Amino acid sequence: MRSDGTMVEFNPFMAGTDDDPYPTYAWLRDEDPVYHSERHGFYAVSRFADVEAVSRDWQRFSNAQGIDIDQTGDLFGPNFITSDPPDHRLTRRLLQHRFSPRAISDAIEPLVRDQVNELVAKVAGNNAVDVGRELAWPLPFSIACHLLGFPSEDREFLWDASQRFEERQVGRSVAPEVAERAAAELRLYVAEQAAGRRRNPGHDLVSLLVSAEIDGKPLSELEIVGNTFALFNAGTQTTACLLTNALVLLGSHPEQLAWLTRNPDRVPDAVEEFLRFEAPVQHFTRTTTEEVSMHGIRIPHGSKVVLLYGAANRDPREWIDPERLDLSREPRRHVAFGEGIHFCLGAPIARLEGRIALEALLPHLRNYRLTDPPTRLRSHQLRGYVSVPAALA
Ligand code: HEM
Repeated sequence: MRSDGTMVEFNPFMAGTDDDPYPTYAWLRDEDPVYHSERHGFYAVSRFADVEAVSRDWQRFSNAQGIDIDQTGDLFGPNFITSDPPDHRLTRRLLQHRFSPRAISDAIEPLVRDQVNELVAKVAGNNAVDVGRELAWPLPFSIACHLLGFPSEDREFLWDASQRFEERQVGRSVAPEVAERAAAELRLYVAEQAAGRRRNPGHDLVSLLVSAEIDGKPLSELEIVGNTFALFNAGTQTTACLLTNALVLLGSHPEQLAWLTRNPDRVPDAVEEFLRFEAPVQHFTRTTTEEVSMHGIRIPHGSKVVLLYGAANRDPREWIDPERLDLSREPRRHVAFGEGIHFCLGAPIARLEGRIALEALLPHLRNYRLTDPPTRLRSHQLRGYVSVPAALA
């Protein structure tokens, strides 16, 4: 309740139409840190310390009943992101070495450089170009296709199906039919890829999953499809949101762009500030395994608890002047990649894509400006854009 007596409602089902959720987040952090939505039946935590504590407490806050408020993950099939230890630990261990710093610098960095050079050459000097569609989206899709061994000519289909998969409607708490159809197409595609890799294995993650054994048992067909779909989804849309947010923020904060152009060595820190300021994943959800009490509020066993990364990353208890984008800020830990045992496996790849793309783009951004309003992705939990019309000349 506000001081003037009006109610504040946090509604996660705005499907990318809420241009400024931050005043609501500020109210939640200050006035209602364990918010209860009676209408939608969830709790939400918004302070940095609470989001961090809940993320670390996997025993009482489980991933196994799904991490999406709209049950997006149910459409993947069984996967290790929506699992708890010991299953989670075993599958994560299986994949982890492919995401090590060594594996990334040897196998992924050269590829990111090649892709970035190709994409930047297409947009540089152009005075009417959609830097979202021409750069920010194709880059993570190319890298994910490479990691999973998907043929690069399938990129257009995968991108289109992913956008349909993410499509949500304002006020509807479950995925619409268009998203369910896209999920079915993607599951079928992934199953065909897995069948191909059984006959003809390569060095990609799908080949790893089809040949893997956990506790002496191979993964089931459903687990192979679920894990592949989850890896693909986790790595693509999120990173495209990071890149589109950065491109929109640079266009709307010319003084920050000018500072970064004078300090290109600070691009890695700027990537962290973009992630802090506009968390690409605004929230994920947990389910309580027992009754829990926080800030004097009793959360019953089996409740959904939303972790508001986007609110936590602007908590003034943690940052000075958090509502200001400041690319010169000394970076410190934020929760854009989560925290605890589910901390983002692909964070080093997302950071690499952000850093290399911005380093390559910066010299071409001297006259950069947004030419038309960017178009938001209509997702319940991702925050970013599908289209960013701009001029670089
Ligand atoms: C800016 C881009 C990205 C953001 C903001 C992001 C965000 C997140 C967040 C918040 C989580 C925590 C999930 C939880 O606690 O339940 C997570 C987990 C995960 N992310 Fe990312 N992610 C990004 C890029 C990537 C990329 C590029 C990949 C793979 C190539 C990836 C793969 C994963 C996986 C596999 C997990 C699950 C880890 C586990 O459950 O142990 N992510 N990500």
